[in-house]
Amino acid sequence: MKRALITGITGQDGSYLAELLLEKGYEVHGIIRRASTFNTDRIDHLYQDPHEEGVRLFLHYGDLTDGTGLRRIVESVRPHEVYNLGAQSHVKVSFDQPEYTADVVGTGTLRLFDAVRDYCDTTGCAVRIYQAGSSEMFGAAPPPQRLDTPFYPRSPYAVAKVAGYWYGVNYREAYGMFIANGILFNHESERRGETFVTRKITRAVGRIKHGLQDKLFLGNLEAKRDWGYAPDYVEAMWLMLQQDVPGDYLIATGEAYSVREFAEAAFAEVGLNWQDYVEIDPRYFRPTEVDYLLGEATATREQLGWQPKVGFAELVKRMVAYDLELAAQEKTLSDAGHKVNLRSVTHG
Ligand code: NAP
Ligand code: GDD
Repeated sequence: MKRALITGITGQDGSYLAELLLEKGYEVHGIIRRASTFNTDRIDHLYQDPHEEGVRLFLHYGDLTDGTGLRRIVESVRPHEVYNLGAQSHVKVSFDQPEYTADVVGTGTLRLFDAVRDYCDTTGCAVRIYQAGSSEMFGAAPPPQRLDTPFYPRSPYAVAKVAGYWYGVNYREAYGMFIANGILFNHESERRGETFVTRKITRAVGRIKHGLQDKLFLGNLEAKRDWGYAPDYVEAMWLMLQQDVPGDYLIATGEAYSVREFAEAAFAEVGLNWQDYVEIDPRYFRPTEVDYLLGEATATREQLGWQPKVGFAELVKRMVAYDLELAAQEKTLSDAGHKVNLRSVTHG
């Protein structure tokens, strides 16, 4: 049985990837962070009591800032594949916490690679690693961005991702390690964190429709992104590790829409006009913005035989439908006298 180790298993992508690998028959190990409240919502449906028979999902406490702990986990799990998805992944937050972001996203990647390198050296076992790179690495480079487009990162997060990317290339060349760099453009879903703009919008649409919220405060409406569907993208990650040789891959839909267009489409799903509800709050502007991301992924698509299945309209439809249902549940609670927490209205 193949064993996979996932950092960031509790995140959007980690949860879909864990599902995919379990479906494929893998034994899946995930690294979770200790928190004072439960942070495993996205994988709770996969969790099994470890005392039961035939359990294939195992969780380990760890952190990308703790190299000793990472080594111990790698040595005890003895993985065939490692997916490095753990990150302080919010671009705006990386301006508030640049040093921490660099430590987790940049140096954390190096710690993990080094732990795997030493494990391979001492045991002779081959391990394949997926490194979660980002279209943010292209930053200010004009669209369309291709694999050979030079990086021009515009945030501490993006600079740290560029470091992670180059650690991958260097460890491949220096030690012959199998490290695949995936450069993924934005991908969203019903499980997207609520402080990212798409989910912030669809959560607000649901709550406004149900009378729980009046306004939606956003920042730059003109930014354009190449938005795909997260479950499609985790399939590409897996495919990258099934190739004969390691390489770099760019994953995108090839279509870009503005934040304004996303908001327009999301409000239209429930018969509302976005302009009646959206207001601009400069607190959501970034010191340096990434204006336009649009990926040219033809070569990767052909190489991996991968295609995105869910396009922009379907993505908006799915996210709105899900958040409409969530808001209906909140409305029931609110009507029964419970306080509904509207954190995503002000955070992110
Ligand atoms: P996400 O939902 O923010 O999940 C991030 C994961 O990393 C969570 O499990 C989080 O744990 C974990 N994490 C945070 N700090 C950590 C630390 N110090 N040590 C170990 N784990 C830590 O992100 P995502 O959208 O799934 O993205 C997955 C990866 O792809 C990230 O590396 C992201 O930067 C990258 N990426 C994402 C996109 C996208 O559009 N989604 C595009 C390109 C690249 P908690 O649950 O405890 O917070
Ligand atoms: N979060 C947020 N909140 N973004 C807003 C808002 C708001 O209220 N208003 C406008 N935006 C704009 C941002 O300025 C940005 O241009 C765009 O919406 C998308 O922002 P996010 O959804 O926060 O995502 P991101 O593109 O910055 O970063 C995501 O995608 C990257 C891949 O390109 C994250 O998932 C990163 O981890 C990932 O690497």
